[in-house]
Amino acid sequence: MKAVVVEQTGGPEVLQSKSSYPVPIAQTGQLLVRNNISGVNYIDTYFRTGLYPSAKPEVLGREGAGIVAALGPNTSGFQVGDRVAWLGTGGYAEYTAVSAARAAKIPDGVSDEDVMASFLSGMTALSLAKETYTVQQGDWVLLHAAAGGAGFLMTQILKAIGAKVIGTAGGVEKCTLVKSLGADVVIDYRSEEGKDWVNKVKEATRGRGVDVVYDSVGRDTWEGSLEAVKRKGTIVWFGNASGPVPPLPLAKLSPKCVKVARPTLFGYIETREEFEYYTKELFSMLRSGQLKTKIHKVYLLEDIAEVHSDLEGRRTMGKALLRP
Ligand SMILES: NC(=O)c1ccc[n+]([C@@H]2O[C@H](COP(=O)([O-])OP(=O)(O)OC[C@H]3O[C@@H](n4cnc5c(N)ncnc54)[C@H](OP(=O)(O)O)[C@@H]3O)[C@@H](O)[C@H]2O)c1
Repeated sequence: MKAVVVEQTGGPEVLQSKSSYPVPIAQTGQLLVRNNISGVNYIDTYFRTGLYPSAKPEVLGREGAGIVAALGPNTSGFQVGDRVAWLGTGGYAEYTAVSAARAAKIPDGVSDEDVMASFLSGMTALSLAKETYTVQQGDWVLLHAAAGGAGFLMTQILKAIGAKVIGTAGGVEKCTLVKSLGADVVIDYRSEEGKDWVNKVKEATRGRGVDVVYDSVGRDTWEGSLEAVKRKGTIVWFGNASGPVPPLPLAKLSPKCVKVARPTLFGYIETREEFEYYTKELFSMLRSGQLKTKIHKVYLLEDIAEVHSDLEGRRTMGKALLRP
């Protein structure tokens, strides 16, 4: 089968596109899925660079959607031919063996593309807004990278709850997109004017600061996020797009009694019940039209280096997808 393999960590050039890689065999409790489309997430770049350690050689890719081609021993709940979305490893390939516990049947009326534009990213946004910090109607929320794969969905989820959203994004086009989702304040944090985004957040909240900051940019925004949060507020650090945050002396949190959380989606969907809770919530929002998706571009598997370069070069809006 076709697959993208990483043998050693490094830049996009270590992504090797192979045309005759062995098809995996579904083990006990697993499904073999023929992927129609796979999601590309920023986390894939961390495994490529080694920021997040993982065994190599590795087929990258944490999610896919397609058709069940075979069942492993003692696998129940699915049949060959079912249309499913899954979370796991090895998505940059034509076939992936995945745990049935992390697979969900895609309901009629929802396309594979819409699911892949919102599966990992949308469940992340839902769990961050519901569990990491439970956003309330009227809360002031600061969301960085609001035009990204996760950010585009998170903005809509926050507005649906009734929060007042301050979104940051780089460039006019991205800011226009975030504004179109109903964000109350949008700041181009890459522009000359927007470099002072902390003061703009303070102005918007009349000097109080925000109830919660969702920060997936990390190194470049971290200090500003600490400044922009209100007394007794919460900072949710959930990604490293600009690099990891510097070591944090806990005493820095005491002047404003700030809480810091460092969540990961996988911690919220460990049990089948938890996984089903979030997949059902997501599918229902997609079916009702409450959640819109934005696909930046569907790339071919062999163009994978270009996808990673575009993501790391901040050239994508919404979600990048891969056609195996
Ligand atoms: N903890 C979890 O469970 C979890 C799950 C999903 C995603 N995440 C995190 O959420 C973030 C978004 O993920 P995603 O897949 O949806 O990616 P994405 O938002 O589509 O892409 C990353 C965005 O970060 C912004 N950015 C700011 N500084 C950057 C820099 N120095 N280099 C590159 N990008 C920079 C860029 O937007 P601008 O041009 O607008 O600045 C870029 O488009 C990532 O940090 C990811 O690790 C975490």
